[in-house]
Amino acid sequence: MLNEEVHVNEVLKKYPSATREDLLDILHDIQESDPHHYLSDAALSDVAAHLGMDLADIKGTASFYSMFSFSPRGKHVIRICDSPPCQLLGATTILQKLIDVLGIAVGETTSDGLFTLETASCLGVCGVAPAMMIDQETYGNLTPTRIAEIIEQIRREDEAS
Ligand code: FES
Repeated sequence: MLNEEVHVNEVLKKYPSATREDLLDILHDIQESDPHHYLSDAALSDVAAHLGMDLADIKGTASFYSMFSFSPRGKHVIRICDSPPCQLLGATTILQKLIDVLGIAVGETTSDGLFTLETASCLGVCGVAPAMMIDQETYGNLTPTRIAEIIEQIRREDEAS
């Protein structure tokens, strides 16, 4: 069995009598458990079969949410907030620093496959703007210096693991 099918099946097992209301939770879990943090066509087909829903319906619903990706992403997904409160407190400078440090544009993945850079709307932590998330961890009160340190630290941890 393909690795991909294994992780999708593991998620679907957690929702034995799933209904349409569980769709977003299921898609979220599948994306999280995928090594490339995305929803493949095969995974979406499996979800459609599991829920007894139309594949086009599932794709249409999923594509409505910016948190879902339909192409493979890096090991770590950086999502920097570009909503006005963060913008007012320097999100543009922070984003530029990320672009410089990573050497990629928004929507791209580093050549080593380690980071994908994305923007997001409000992450719900405006009190510590400007903010970003890397995977499930939130980082606030960002400065260009902190950005360089955070990326460097993740790179070091990854090399060590
Ligand atoms: S506006 Fe950036 S976290 Fe809310």
